Amino acid sequence: MSKFLKKSTLTIGGAMLVIGVAQSAAAQQYNLGREALPEEVAAWDIDVRPDGKGLPVGSGDVYTGEEIWIDKCASCHGDFAEGSGRWPVLAGGIDTLDSERPVKTIGSYWPYLSTVYDYVNRAMPFGNAQSLTDDEVYALTAYILYSNDIVGGEFTLTNDNFLDVQMPNAGNFYPDDRVEVEMPLFSVQACMSDCKPSVEITMLAAVVDVTPEAKTDAVVEEAAAEPVAVEEVAVVEVAALDMALVAAGEGAFRKCKSCHQVGDSARNRTGPILNNIVGNPAGGVEGFRYSSPMTEAADAGLLWTSEELTAFLTDPRGYMRGTKMTFRGVRKEEDIAAIIEYLKSFEAQ
Ligand code: HEC
Ligand code: HEC
Repeated sequence: MSKFLKKSTLTIGGAMLVIGVAQSAAAQQYNLGREALPEEVAAWDIDVRPDGKGLPVGSGDVYTGEEIWIDKCASCHGDFAEGSGRWPVLAGGIDTLDSERPVKTIGSYWPYLSTVYDYVNRAMPFGNAQSLTDDEVYALTAYILYSNDIVGGEFTLTNDNFLDVQMPNAGNFYPDDRVEVEMPLFSVQACMSDCKPSVEITMLAAVVDVTPEAKTDAVVEEAAAEPVAVEEVAVVEVAALDMALVAAGEGAFRKCKSCHQVGDSARNRTGPILNNIVGNPAGGVEGFRYSSPMTEAADAGLLWTSEELTAFLTDPRGYMRGTKMTFRGVRKEEDIAAIIEYLKSFEAQ
């Protein structure tokens, strides 16, 4: 049982999906349904691929195709596949792809003839899908090629010459193997064990300011919902932080942002950079001109412990007469606690 489940189970966002459990296993294990008959599998297995895989043996010529077309397709797609009313156009449009209004048709756009066969066989005529015989689909495909001037009126399409047909736009479809896209990356053998000696997380998205402001509440919820995951990946100092509080602090810090910056590219503005502030000496940011009361407090050994910061931020000018920080203070104590936690997250800078 586990052998089968391993092969066919995916976990997406915590939900378990069981995909295509082998019929025999399902029948044995769960007593649900019965094994599909070979005929039933064959009836579902109708896809035709660009390399011709899946094409049935058969043939059809343009002339026969035109008759079926007039009968079953022209009412919607027009007598010459030019489209009728607002129904899809299947012919023309050559050399329009780089124009303002590209006309994407089988002739101007589609790279593979197999898609025409597959689509018509699978889905047309609209409202009566899969009613055509294999030879009728070959004939209709031949007629669509003819309407696009890709083959002449005498042409017969068969499973043998199918791949010889050159679709005009085929050359413009090619694998994107530029080094900066994913294909080259995904084409190499994937490392499956001991791939890296250690993983070092340098910053968390919740801490770096990458979250749109309006989403702060959602971030708080997310961070609160997954404390385990956060602790698992975080480096020591960051792991000690209360991430929900950090996220809340990010929101509350908006009041301070007009004067203070934090993070890698922070600079002194009206107020000094606030990296490495919690638990550290006051007045210590290089290149910032503090007021004399701040300098004096710094000389007297003031440390920005949580308690001192709380007192300062509650009422800056009451706490320090003459400070240059012309800010009336943060009223809510929980906002201050959150701001302090947020500032702690910039300690490794
Ligand atoms: C009742 C109207 C109707 C009839 C009849 C009809 N079609 Fe269509 N055909 C459509 C519609 C609508 C679409 C687009 C469907 C979609 O995009 O989901 C379509 C799409 C197609 C396409 C793909 C076009 C594209 O550019 O994506 C092909 C090929 C096609 N039809 C061939 C045929 C053939 C061959 C017949 C006759 C056997 C036929 N259709 C009969 C309505 C019709
Ligand atoms: C209007 C601009 C302004 C705002 C808004 C402001 N500050 Fe300040 N802040 C300053 C200035 C200017 C100083 C330097 C004070 C001095 O030299 O007396 C300062 C100093 C500080 C210091 C001491 C820095 C050090 O190096 O010792 C801390 C901590 C601080 N601010 C935190 C905050 C926080 C947190 C907020 C938001 C709740 C905030 N400030 C809002 C301008 C501001």
